[in-house]
Amino acid sequence: MRRLLITIDGPAGAGKTTVSRMLAHRLAYKYIDTGALYRGVAFAAISAGLNADDDEGLEKLCRTLKIKFVTGDQGLRILSNGVDITDKIRTPEITMFASAVSARPVVRGYLLDLQREMGQEKGVVFEGRDMGTVVFPDADLKFYLDASHKTRSLRRYQELTAKTQQTLEEVERDMAKRDKNDSTRDLAPLKPAKDAIIIDSTELSVKAVVELMLSKIDEFI
Ligand code: DC
Repeated sequence: MRRLLITIDGPAGAGKTTVSRMLAHRLAYKYIDTGALYRGVAFAAISAGLNADDDEGLEKLCRTLKIKFVTGDQGLRILSNGVDITDKIRTPEITMFASAVSARPVVRGYLLDLQREMGQEKGVVFEGRDMGTVVFPDADLKFYLDASHKTRSLRRYQELTAKTQQTLEEVERDMAKRDKNDSTRDLAPLKPAKDAIIIDSTELSVKAVVELMLSKIDEFI
């Protein structure tokens, strides 16, 4: 059967990661979490003591940074210059820093090339903010997954409670700030592609969203 390049964009907490993983699994496709790439850059920048707006420092950093995904016994892992950083990039600090560096053209340029390289092979689900609008404008099928602010904050809070001490109010505040950063930046702001299929997951289970996507893929093929 024809193998596709599928993009799933949307704000934090809309369910993109769980849905993308499950969809890729059902289709026997690869899954690429592009947010993890921005988090990888944020991790490297913080480790190097850089500020998020230090374009010169970020440019130097990106020139030698080698970020890649590998699949092993523990599932999908992200390596930064050979070091496994998968378990270190989900903290509130990295989350906010990733959103800040993602507005810098030098970082977006570096990751644009990397993402397009990863998309040379079909049979992939790419998850992010600008997959359908900028990185893969010719993707076979584009989805934009959304949900109400309240639902997204609550989902993120439930996901985080095991790992951090953040209150629901803090999660809501961070998410509002990140939504604003990600959707108002000049370069590749978060928005649905003109030809994206928009799905509101506020009232839908993960399974229901995946089934809906599979039915759209069936129609397309
Ligand atoms: O999906 P995530 O929460 O892991 O993403 C972290 C940050 O990275 C997000 O706030 C904005 C940025 N990002 C982006 O600008 N473009 C993407 N394709 C993916 C993420």
